[in-house]
Amino acid sequence: MAKPVSHYICQSCGAQTSQFFGRCPSCGDWNSLIEQINSSSKSLRKLQLGTSALPGKGSKHSVPMSSLDEKPINRLKSGYLELDRVLGGGFVPGSIVLVGGDPGIGKSTLLLQSATAMALHKSVLYVSAEESAQQVKLRWERLKGTNSDLQLLAETDLDVVLEELQCLKPDVAIIDSIQALNDDSLSSAPGSVAQVRECSSALQRLAKKQETALVLVGHVTKEGLLAGPKVLEHLVDAVLTFEGDRFATHRLLRAVKNRYGATHELGVFEMQGAGLTEIGNPSELFIHSESASGVATIVACEGTRSLLVDLQALVSPTCYPSPRRTATGLETNRLLQILAVLEKHLTLPMSRSDCYLAVAGGLEVEEPAADLGVAAAIISSYRDLTIPPGTVFIGEIGLGGQLRPVGQIVQRLNEAMRLGFSRAVIPKSSGIHEMGSAIKLEVLEAGSLNEAIVLALGVN
Ligand code: TYD
Ligand code: MG
Repeated sequence: MAKPVSHYICQSCGAQTSQFFGRCPSCGDWNSLIEQINSSSKSLRKLQLGTSALPGKGSKHSVPMSSLDEKPINRLKSGYLELDRVLGGGFVPGSIVLVGGDPGIGKSTLLLQSATAMALHKSVLYVSAEESAQQVKLRWERLKGTNSDLQLLAETDLDVVLEELQCLKPDVAIIDSIQALNDDSLSSAPGSVAQVRECSSALQRLAKKQETALVLVGHVTKEGLLAGPKVLEHLVDAVLTFEGDRFATHRLLRAVKNRYGATHELGVFEMQGAGLTEIGNPSELFIHSESASGVATIVACEGTRSLLVDLQALVSPTCYPSPRRTATGLETNRLLQILAVLEKHLTLPMSRSDCYLAVAGGLEVEEPAADLGVAAAIISSYRDLTIPPGTVFIGEIGLGGQLRPVGQIVQRLNEAMRLGFSRAVIPKSSGIHEMGSAIKLEVLEAGSLNEAIVLALGVN
């Protein structure tokens, strides 16, 4: 059979060429040409898959909204509560989930473990496009997945994978990874933007049609390959990222997009000798009840979950013309802003001090509710004072030195109480009266940063 012809389209000016160029011959932009398969061969595949038959009479394809039945979603439990939490309750039949993350972070391990657990009750197909069947088998044995009826296909050819999906009609199919799949009607290399897009849209059409929950694994690496999973983000129903510190054993799973659940949910796992284990109480991972100057505890919210996290600051006199500031796990601009507020409103000579700040356990804290904790850690280090043990800090700092209320205060206080904390410094008018007698810790309400520091440390 003749190979379908593809052409290249410039993403900047829309010019078409029949040959690949590093630079668009029309507008001169670099790396803007993307391969597209000719529409005739596309419709050929569409017919093979039979997607043209949509419900409805004659040429009428649309239906009135009111005539649609409400179908309850029967979610498939992934076998791991942490994964279910991030998915919004489990995999939805016919949905597509993209799991992205750096190579070696544990995506294959997580999905193989989940596939093994799901295969006890459902039909699951694991397509390994990167590793041979023997390699997957070795890992599977290491993960002690011996009782499960998991179906394995070690294949990189898209057509074979589609055929297998059509034959097996599994409840769940895992493609590890989408960048290793190859559609041989395209001349570009596997992992290129055109390949990733074509392979995933073909898989998506089939998965939607036969109600298979599809999980695509995508690597996030530098430059070109980053574009792979990125182009998929609008196509899939949920995007999960699996991240973690290379030097630590814990791994964080987050939903950055989810059509069937909340985003910013967080799942926590730990990588051990026999695979990933779930961490139900992650706060304990990020706090170390050490008494040292420069350490303050905050309560960070990740979706519906609150986490207690230690912040560490080191402030020392600078010997450079411009002081050094570094922040690990926190935005540097946020640190600079808090230092400016400390200098201006608490008259601390921060411009003559180096300041290093780190969030414990390699966690990233983005929310402004951490501001008060950051300021407390900095002052504690600067004054060489230890913050009384059992104190948590919650609050956003305004540019005028005022303390602003933050969201989910009740949830944050509950988590602090659960872990045995005895004092919480929070902004005034945070609306905690609704908790009434449920508050089992000393709450210190402050209107300004200055007031909060006096209350917590006894100095200003
Ligand atoms: P892997 O799942 O292959 O990563 P990815 O698919 O994201 O590229 O995980 C690889 C790392 O996990 C590897 O460095 C070894 C480690 N690992 C363990 O520590 N314990 C285990 O039981 C397994 C299977 C892997
Ligand atoms: Mg892998």
